[in-house]
Amino acid sequence: MSWKNRDAVTVYSLGGVVAILAGVVLWNNAQPEWSGYQDEFRELVTRKFGPARARQAASGIQQIWVRELGRVDRCTTCHLGEDWKGLEGASEPYRSHPKGILEKHPVAKYGCTICHGGQGYATDMEAAHSVGNDNWGEPLLGGELGKANLISNREALIQVNCNICHRNDRETPGADYINYAKKLVDQKGCYACHTIGKRGGAVGPNLTYIGDLAPEQFDYSRMSGKPSVFGWHVAHFKDPKQAVRETVMPNFGFGSKEAQALAMLVMSWKRTNLPLAYMPGVKIPEPQRSPEEIAKEQQMLTGAGAFFVKKTCFICHDVSSFGIESATKIGPDLAVAYSDVQSRFGRTLEDFLKAPTGTMSVVLSTQIHLTESEREEAIAKLKVAYQTKTEQDAKNKIARK
Ligand code: HEC
Ligand code: HEC
Ligand code: HEC
Ligand code: HEC
Ligand code: HEC
Repeated sequence: MSWKNRDAVTVYSLGGVVAILAGVVLWNNAQPEWSGYQDEFRELVTRKFGPARARQAASGIQQIWVRELGRVDRCTTCHLGEDWKGLEGASEPYRSHPKGILEKHPVAKYGCTICHGGQGYATDMEAAHSVGNDNWGEPLLGGELGKANLISNREALIQVNCNICHRNDRETPGADYINYAKKLVDQKGCYACHTIGKRGGAVGPNLTYIGDLAPEQFDYSRMSGKPSVFGWHVAHFKDPKQAVRETVMPNFGFGSKEAQALAMLVMSWKRTNLPLAYMPGVKIPEPQRSPEEIAKEQQMLTGAGAFFVKKTCFICHDVSSFGIESATKIGPDLAVAYSDVQSRFGRTLEDFLKAPTGTMSVVLSTQIHLTESEREEAIAKLKVAYQTKTEQDAKNKIARK
């Protein structure tokens, strides 16, 4: 071979290498993201269980179609180990799914997104997880969003979706944030001002389907940080006046855990049109009052303070000198209102009840209607309550001496 020919061979073979490299690059670009995961999954299964099992690994786009829910979820195109045994320790997206939860909600009947959120139809990760999605359309309620929202249990957000179905449970195993928030709603007396379901007050907005409010329906102007519905609720629960200047919603002194749990709960209060088979049996239709509470109310209806029970003032106020006890104690003890109003507002009680300010102005214009004579009655009774209180205090002093 002459030198000239040799050069030609070199040139041609170099050209060939370049062409092959270019082909490899193009091929890789043309390969969808999921096929890389499927190759890796097959390698993983080969290593762990041998080549025979690896041939059973799914290939191509996978989907779960749940006709009843109108959902097509392709998550298992990448999350290939979801229904495999023995991959509990594998890394994502190959890990076996935690088992207990899917026994109660079989994948064939539920798919994935009804619990996890995300875009079921998408086959690339960014679109499927959709976490960058600020508007809470349907982002994956997973670790990344949990971290961004500073939730100490990063996986907790999924519980919003659990409670869309499990709303009527008093407690749902596996939904600890939601369970905690349901307790808070009872303890703090949110019903005193809000209708939730079939009962409650009218001082604040009806919350029955508050989870349906769109992100654009919130005012973020008084908030710091990235605007989101979840962030708005957390800030509002921590300090209602910081979020809504004129509000009469009390500051309950909630910390982050309480505010986050309540935000999850109220966001789950959505209308659903799920087929009945997907709605857990209604165990407790609405939070109910215990027999003790009802007995106590009957007893209070017969004493000197009956007026305050009949007019439902006792939902928020004790009138301690009359033995009236409020479950919520949202407002001050009315036994001392006669002098307290004078020192707090610089006005007489008569004046205050005829032209109230703040919470009472909203209460008496939205929730409790007092006629002219009922206002007089309230004033007169509160005078007596105060006298009684003074006498009781004096007696107690003597008794203690
Ligand atoms: C293109 C491949 C792909 C698709 C499609 C995909 N995922 Fe993932 N998923 C991954 C990978 C890779 C990880 C691990 C890395 C990570 O979390 O960023 C992961 C992690 C997760 C995690 C655990 C991490 C967390 O944030 O809690 C969940 C849950 C999850 N995916 C759910 C889903 C659901 C639901 C769908 C369908 C809507 C889906 N994925 C679709 C690739 C995919
Ligand atoms: C009934 C609700 C429900 C359904 C349906 C469901 N999951 Fe899950 N999934 C859960 C719960 C609960 C966890 C545990 C979360 C945690 O870590 O606390 C979980 C965990 C996961 C994880 C691991 C995240 C982690 O923290 O390790 C992935 C990935 C995942 N699911 C994907 C899927 C896929 C894919 C489907 C559909 C084939 C699916 N899930 C269906 C409720 C569900
Ligand atoms: C699409 C509606 C739906 C979603 C979403 C859902 N569930 Fe369920 N769940 C049901 C139904 C229906 C049952 C069966 C209830 C029955 O038999 O009364 C059930 C049963 C259960 C049970 C067993 C209850 C019992 O009394 O034995 C638990 C625990 C549970 N779900 C927890 C969860 C958790 C945790 C999540 C979120 C990760 C979740 N569910 C998401 C509908 C749903
Ligand atoms: C003294 C009356 C009062 C009590 C008690 C009260 N709220 Fe409110 N709440 C209001 C008023 C008034 C508003 C409307 C102004 C605002 O957004 O703060 C409101 C607004 C809200 C909103 C926002 C509604 C919307 O349409 O934007 C939520 C959610 C809420 N309250 C939940 C609760 C919860 C949960 C509790 C119990 C922990 C509670 N509230 C206790 C009076 C009250
Ligand atoms: C939904 C809860 C709620 C109901 C129901 C309610 N109040 Fe109030 N009330 C409050 C709150 C909260 C305050 C404290 C307002 C403030 O500090 O601005 C208050 C303050 C008052 C005060 C001033 C007390 C003081 O010591 O400063 C009087 C008087 C009063 N209420 C009377 C009544 C009467 C009478 C009724 C029944 C007709 C009633 N309230 C029903 C929540 C309520």
